[in-house]
Amino acid sequence: MEKLTERLRLREFTRNDVGAVAEFRKDPRYLEFYYRPPYTREECVRFVEKCIAWSGENPRTRFHLAITDRAGEVLFGNCGVRKESIETLRGDVGYELSPAYWGNGYATEAVRAMLDFGFADLELHEIEARCVAANKRSVRLLHRLGFEATERMQPGQCRDEFTDRMLPERRVFLLSRDQWIHSMSGLNA
Ligand SMILES: CC(C)(COP(=O)(O)OP(=O)(O)OC[C@H]1O[C@@H](n2cnc3c(N)ncnc32)[C@H](O)[C@@H]1OP(=O)(O)O)[C@@H](O)C(=O)NCCC(=O)NCCS
Repeated sequence: MEKLTERLRLREFTRNDVGAVAEFRKDPRYLEFYYRPPYTREECVRFVEKCIAWSGENPRTRFHLAITDRAGEVLFGNCGVRKESIETLRGDVGYELSPAYWGNGYATEAVRAMLDFGFADLELHEIEARCVAANKRSVRLLHRLGFEATERMQPGQCRDEFTDRMLPERRVFLLSRDQWIHSMSGLNA
């Protein structure tokens, strides 16, 4: 799967991407809200392998793509939409950027494309995002895209899916299909 936006190419991961992922996942700015040591290269290999494995699922429920420049060469980060089962109408979204590319609207542009995909192609009715409450950049991104904050999750309620470590307090944000269509009509007006 591949998506082109105005400035980006969202494409499947390849094993060649491991180095670029490992490079930014050791940056202290990236790690600020993960409360954990820098990711090891092995953890980054496992992450990339998992994304590649998801791309081969049939039927596919998890779509986690590399965010790159339009040529598909420079890796800025990653984002994706997934759902628990084929039948469910609820999905969730995740995203991250190398700090070298923060402040340009790339994550907003990439996540917007994945939300379009989630609502239009996967026919989801609702998309959830979970975010560390203190992660203001991420909270701003979600508000920019029309998400609304719902319940708080206390520390210890959730674990990082790749490392199984406990995570700090997080907020759950939701965006319904109706809110998304409404915000799209505002953008096009
Ligand atoms: C969360 C994260 C992706 C946000 O990165 P970001 O660069 O702030 O997000 P965007 O790429 O959408 O850029 C938005 C910023 O660029 C600015 N910007 C510049 N040009 C823009 C454009 N054309 N369109 C939109 N925003 C633009 C915006 O004003 C905004 O800055 P502000 O928040 O200070 O107002 C990033 O901080 C990150 O990867 N953090 C580590 C991992 C993480 O926390 N992931 C989320 C887990 S829930």
